[in-house]
Amino acid sequence: MAEARIHALHGFIGSGKTTFARRLERELPGMRFTSDEWMVALYGQDPPADLFPIYHSRVIALMETQWIRALDLGVPVILDHGFWTRASRDALRAKAARLGVPLTFHVLTLPDEEARRRVRARNEVDGTMYIADETYALFRERFEAMGADEVGVMVGKRS
Ligand SMILES: Nc1ncnc2c1ncn2[C@@H]1O[C@H](COP(=O)(O)OP(=O)(O)O)[C@@H](O)[C@H]1O
Ligand SMILES: [Mg+2]
Repeated sequence: MAEARIHALHGFIGSGKTTFARRLERELPGMRFTSDEWMVALYGQDPPADLFPIYHSRVIALMETQWIRALDLGVPVILDHGFWTRASRDALRAKAARLGVPLTFHVLTLPDEEARRRVRARNEVDGTMYIADETYALFRERFEAMGADEVGVMVGKRS
């Protein structure tokens, strides 16, 4: 039986987080929390940019009550949110410590050119969050890659 653990996925848009999360949820097995899916279900595939932050924070808060309950029940959880900033990763580390639950960051990296190509193709698929090229570029500047002093498991580079 899998242990209660937080599996957090760190990577930029298009790096393959949700694809990896789907595999992990089957393999563990565990519960996957993909914020983009909740966003699309509640607010559509292209929510207005000015409302995106408030919508997103509602989804994150709602998901958190659910994944904490899952951990209480001994179920591993997969948090597919990207954790783009160092502050968000540190906040999760502190939360995991408070909950007394182990935490693994899985790190996904992909060259921008390939990630953009995959995101453009994904945009053509019904039911996914629409990411314009300009949105990719805007958020790319805010992305803080995991530092050398942070602990994470590189996905695809495990022996
Ligand atoms: N190894 C791969 N080769 C080609 N396409 C891939 C691969 N892994 C994922 N994809 C596709 O690339 C797109 C982005 O992957 P996704 O898992 O949605 O990334 P993220 O959740 O990080 O935004 C999806 O359409 C997915 O099906
Ligand atoms: Mg995703």
